[in-house]
Amino acid sequence: MIGSIEVRSLSRSFHTTVRRPGFTGALRSLVNPERAVKHAVSDISFDVAPGELLALLGPNGAGKSTTIKMLTGILTPTSGEARVAGVVPYEDRERNARNIGAVFGQRTQLWWDLPVRESFAILRDIYEVPMAEHATRLKEFDDILELSSFWDTRVRHLSLGQRVRCDLAAALLHDPPVVFLDEPTIGMDVVVKEQVREFLRHQVEQRGRTVLLTTHDMTEVERLAERVVLVNHGRLVLDGTLDEIRRKYGSTWQVRATLADAHTEVVPPPGIALLRQEGPQVVFGPDGPDAPTVHQALKAVIERYEVTGIAIDEADLEDVMRAAYVHAGPGAKGA
Ligand SMILES: Nc1ncnc2c1ncn2[C@@H]1O[C@H](COP(=O)(O)OP(=O)(O)OP(=O)(O)O)[C@@H](O)[C@H]1O
Ligand SMILES: [Mg+2]
Repeated sequence: MIGSIEVRSLSRSFHTTVRRPGFTGALRSLVNPERAVKHAVSDISFDVAPGELLALLGPNGAGKSTTIKMLTGILTPTSGEARVAGVVPYEDRERNARNIGAVFGQRTQLWWDLPVRESFAILRDIYEVPMAEHATRLKEFDDILELSSFWDTRVRHLSLGQRVRCDLAAALLHDPPVVFLDEPTIGMDVVVKEQVREFLRHQVEQRGRTVLLTTHDMTEVERLAERVVLVNHGRLVLDGTLDEIRRKYGSTWQVRATLADAHTEVVPPPGIALLRQEGPQVVFGPDGPDAPTVHQALKAVIERYEVTGIAIDEADLEDVMRAAYVHAGPGAKGA
């Protein structure tokens, strides 16, 4: 299907040689190498619908980049299958390349010694983009990413944040329905990060692109993603919406309300506990595993009581994700 990503039981292992320490160790390794197998990605399945932005999250070494490399056709899986816009990426790299754009924040796809604009021109020729279309698209990218102040500079002289913005533009110049972004905001200052997020939102909402994104920045996840897939030690441990994950692992919210009438008898709505009450000041928290989200609780409290003031505190997403890594073991799929 155009724009969809389907991943089925995808696995990838690497064979490595274990190096023994010291000189004699090195000699022994040479004569009798000790082999080890690293299961970088094990039996991962998920889908991304056309026009959806999914965040692929996990600690360092979890297998995120390896997954993206298989979906972009750079690596072949050990087993399992993947389809990107209907194409098996590692079997038909060329056709896949026309359907996807990819940014690896750690490494540029641009020509190191050329000014950025020349790289763009080469890509235009490779993908046979008509001149006028190319110009329109460049203008659209420049409007949000502000590239023109440095796009005549050689790539090697760009700062990290400038270079990654150029990489983003380069990845989208041929108008691909699917975009892979592996740490696209690495090294960016807060203003530029916000620019890039706006750019990505525009690409998803206005252009209908499907985006698979990895990041270690939870603010980014909150701003951009509705759904996340969590991997740990190569395995998928969770697939769900942010709301579902928060409900399951981040149930540490509080709703603080000031009641209009201090003598109201407070019987909280189902799934909500009354934590404290001092005169008109009441504090509610989640009660049990089926507790509502903080926003649902807020609505329930306002509907049930006449309040003159209300505020919420909520666990930040970093805490929620930390809890999810710890508690969602392999096989505990679904939020
Ligand atoms: N070519 C390779 N040879 C051997 N091991 C590899 C190779 N590529 C990746 N690995 C190992 O596979 C595991 C997953 O690596 P991967 O780069 O996918 O992690 P990641 O989730 O992208 O981490 P990070 O957040 O640090 O970018 C790591 O333990 C890594 O050392
Ligand atoms: Mg990585």
